Amino acid sequence: MCGIIGYVGEENAVPIIIDGLKKLEYRGYDSAGIAVFGEGGFFDVVKQKGRLPALEARLADAPIEGNMAIGHTRWATHGEPSDINSHPHVGSENKIAVVHNGIIENYKEIKERLEQRGISFVSQTDSEVIAQLAEYYLQKYSGDDLTDTVIRVASVLEGSFALAVMSASEPDTLVAIRKDNPLIIGASGHGMFIASDVPAVLRHTNRVYYLGEKEIAVLKKDSVQFFGMDKAPLKKKLETVSWSLDSAEKGGYEHFMLKEIMEQPAILRETIRSASGSNKDILDSLDIARFDKIVITACGSAYNAGVVARYVFERLCRISVEVELASEFRYKDAIVDEKTLVILISQSGETADTIAAMREAKSKGAFTLAIVNVVGSTVSKEADVCLFTAAGPEIAVATTKAFSAQLVVIYMLTVRFAAQLGQISEEAELFAEIASLPDKAAEILAHTDAIAKYASVCVGCKSIFFIGRNIDYAIALEGSLKLKEISYIHSEAYAGGELKHGTISLIEDNTLVVALASCERLYGKIMSNVEQVVSRGAKVLLIGSCVGGDFARDGEPDDATAPDKGVTPDGKIAVIGLPKIHELFSPSLSAIVLQLFSYYVAANRGLDIDKPRNLAKSVTVE
Ligand code: G6P
Repeated sequence: MCGIIGYVGEENAVPIIIDGLKKLEYRGYDSAGIAVFGEGGFFDVVKQKGRLPALEARLADAPIEGNMAIGHTRWATHGEPSDINSHPHVGSENKIAVVHNGIIENYKEIKERLEQRGISFVSQTDSEVIAQLAEYYLQKYSGDDLTDTVIRVASVLEGSFALAVMSASEPDTLVAIRKDNPLIIGASGHGMFIASDVPAVLRHTNRVYYLGEKEIAVLKKDSVQFFGMDKAPLKKKLETVSWSLDSAEKGGYEHFMLKEIMEQPAILRETIRSASGSNKDILDSLDIARFDKIVITACGSAYNAGVVARYVFERLCRISVEVELASEFRYKDAIVDEKTLVILISQSGETADTIAAMREAKSKGAFTLAIVNVVGSTVSKEADVCLFTAAGPEIAVATTKAFSAQLVVIYMLTVRFAAQLGQISEEAELFAEIASLPDKAAEILAHTDAIAKYASVCVGCKSIFFIGRNIDYAIALEGSLKLKEISYIHSEAYAGGELKHGTISLIEDNTLVVALASCERLYGKIMSNVEQVVSRGAKVLLIGSCVGGDFARDGEPDDATAPDKGVTPDGKIAVIGLPKIHELFSPSLSAIVLQLFSYYVAANRGLDIDKPRNLAKSVTVE
């Protein structure tokens, strides 16, 4: 959600900024722009509604260059997507240029005050007030430098912001500040960077500073200084990021999403390994016996991972677990205290609602444990303890590998807790089952053709239903979300037993129902649901380790999965069998099939899979 990149250095900033913006596309955007400090001593600004090629075309027609620039991908909140509402914004005198990620909640008051002083605004955005206010302060307090100005402006702003600011009177200085939105500072051999996220700078450096709340960074081409809001200097650690540039590139795949799906065996292996490596100390230090309740809170797919976690925790640990959407948790006056373990799950560690939920839980005395992918992110830093998933940078908006890594961390944590509580005696066997996941995932990924073939006949579906029971229901939620995110096909997930209370009225001839069947105890129950929908005309895709037609091992994908050659004589049911696994860990295998299914449906519809309309990867505003 909005991407920021800034550069000051020895090279022409324009191609560097454009490349950085491409790396930030995954965050979701509807327009983009760049401001360069040009030779005339003022800012050249080019901004354009639409995707980056439209901006590049404008730059090709009228090239600009300079050694200092800021760029932005905008995801509209205040004001429609348009050229004028795109960032960077400049003050009326073209003396200040700003890019902003976040929402300025008191922008109307600031705007009115500035308008009363004769300043006119050109856009409908909240962000323009930052540029206009900075320019106003620069004139009013003539002894100030850009850092003083940014501090003055930041003290007035309410809401959330990550800012990169340039001033025409300091052509060698870039200033950044953040509150409730991420920013990193990259240090390379040829210049300094500001960025929303590490992938934007990986081509130039893997050495970064993580900017903290209300910390200010002042960048020159070969130095960076940090200050607090009182302008007192801060010492910060330069950290080395382990992510490689390759991990943020497509590597020959048509889409990042497919690449990330394919990476899963390696990522599962690495995440399992981290339980005896980087995550070990934390796992060893946690004492589950001090808690009488677990509350899991997250958004999107991370919430669905939380629903899986509830089934696993409750079954293995016999401890009560609640799962709440972070956007609900934060406002419900949650009943949590010192005896509650609040688990936050987040790929980015920057989701605004998850951050707010974490702060709310902490303010009530709860102990917070985060499961996060991005090192240095707000959730990872503010939670009491953090277990990292080893998914590497995830670029496709729809999460796949990070979700799978979250599940594995949850399994490891649960088995550890269950053993601590004396609830299980088979700790080693369960760990061995978890350790078998990477190979079983690879087995599925070796047979994508069968899933692709089935998906190709689902392109025209208007609506697809996902059903499951118990842990299969949890993963049905993720299957449904994945499909709607990238294919724009309406879908709903239902607990199988709930069908008869409503959804069954929507089943008609050839409605597709995806039924999950990895839960052995409830196999008979889900098959009854399958019969109920088939007898009302539905076609069913049955996925699970309890069903026959195991294409992954039998190597008979065509017969097993062709929709008109299903396992039932009338071709109503097609089957995708999965390798056998302990049912509590089966979501990891079902998830991969569901991800591939959604991917191929969307690919057959010719959609922009990595950047689905209206969605952002990291939702940093409420
Ligand atoms: C967005 C993404 C989802 C993600 C959700 C939560 O909606 O598109 O893939 O699950 O945010 O993000 P988080 O970074 O907190 O896991």
